[in-house]
Amino acid sequence: MTASPPNLDHALNNRPSAQPPLVRAAELERDPHAVFRHWRAKAPVIQREDGACLVLRAADVEALLTDPRTRQIDGALYTRIRGVPPGPLQDLLVESLLMSEGERHRRRRTPMSRVLAFRAVEALRETVRSAAEGLIDGVEACRGAEAEVDLMTTFCAPLPPRVMGQLLGAPADEAKAFAHWVYQVSPAFAPALPGEDMAAMVDGATRLTAYVEQCLARAMRGPAPRSELLDTMLAAIATDALTQAEAAAQLVTLIIGASDTTRAAMAVQVGLLLDKRQTWGSLGEDADLTRAAVTEALRLEPSVGSVPRFSMEEIVLDGGTIPAGRLVSLSTLSAMRDPARFADPDAFVVDRADHPRWHLVFGGGAHRCIGEALARLELEEGLMALSRRLPGLRLAGPAPKIEGYAGIRRIDGLQVTW
Ligand code: HEM
Repeated sequence: MTASPPNLDHALNNRPSAQPPLVRAAELERDPHAVFRHWRAKAPVIQREDGACLVLRAADVEALLTDPRTRQIDGALYTRIRGVPPGPLQDLLVESLLMSEGERHRRRRTPMSRVLAFRAVEALRETVRSAAEGLIDGVEACRGAEAEVDLMTTFCAPLPPRVMGQLLGAPADEAKAFAHWVYQVSPAFAPALPGEDMAAMVDGATRLTAYVEQCLARAMRGPAPRSELLDTMLAAIATDALTQAEAAAQLVTLIIGASDTTRAAMAVQVGLLLDKRQTWGSLGEDADLTRAAVTEALRLEPSVGSVPRFSMEEIVLDGGTIPAGRLVSLSTLSAMRDPARFADPDAFVVDRADHPRWHLVFGGGAHRCIGEALARLELEEGLMALSRRLPGLRLAGPAPKIEGYAGIRRIDGLQVTW
């Protein structure tokens, strides 16, 4: 066989291939960063054995977040594929803004977006700070009895529901109860995992929906404690912008969206910063340093690894093709370590200057995270309070392992001592 002329070689190597290279899910689970590093240099898209296509490069991920050839996964289709039985969990997924498109999505999102805008959320800084301080009182009390404390269960996990409870105008002890239901139901929003418990997800959705309906009824009866969020939802019901069931579904989605994501991000950033002890002591008094550390931790080890979409038609990228009708996983995990976008992408560089204006960890386009301002506020205030109150905090073992490469990532625990 004679060698092809160089220009033909070039054309063959660069023509879109019909099928992206196959990478097994088990390999991805084992070491996603290594797999993405290897393939990102060779191909813009890879596929898993179930046919899902993973888009790896920052420029493609950004472009496809707003590309009309991709669309959000539809709630009704999703519940069918996922085998969710009719009832409260199915209703939640079908009614949620996350799984709707176009006018319906706008209608479901609009009432909450003003309450969660950056400027509005800034007014909650004191509230979040005191919630974090209150939890640290408990962490200190645990340390009295134990040599090590799991910061995940004592601080990172309870903070988001506590803050959400405040947004709902709920008494502090109620947050504890609904935190349990949140963590029961939240896996329903992520790809199915072996051994997952559908009954627990249904139970969580049922209880959380009933709880939110009770909050709405309480707010309707008034008077105090007022909640701007609930008042806004009641106004949307009163003007027929939302049905009562839709309003409850958006509130439940909000509570779920605020929980797993933020607890994992908190644990990851504390783990990374305790690993690099030189900055820990300064964070408590330095808001700019803290803000930068939060942003960089979200890039290096994001708590959400991908944004799912569906390809409505074939999409040709530079050097590869996404076939039509596939689940498309826009890998923010890979994109945020793309050397074409970030210098020294695998290093934790607190003062890096190449973060884009809109952080990719929060997605993009119409579905971009509505809770970004609140998430950042919790991550910043949580970190500052920990550093101020526990300047001698250190990891009690190896740095925590962050698992998963798509959707919400998992971190089992965060053993610390001081
Ligand atoms: C570090 C924490 C967080 C991360 C990494 C994160 C990430 C994301 C991402 C990537 C999306 C886009 C999903 C898509 O396009 O399919 C999203 C959507 C969403 N997030 Fe967050 N999120 C975080 C915290 C929060 C918080 C605190 C809230 C609530 C206050 C929240 C509520 C939501 C909601 C309701 C959506 C759906 C928006 C829509 O469909 O229009 N998230 N989030």
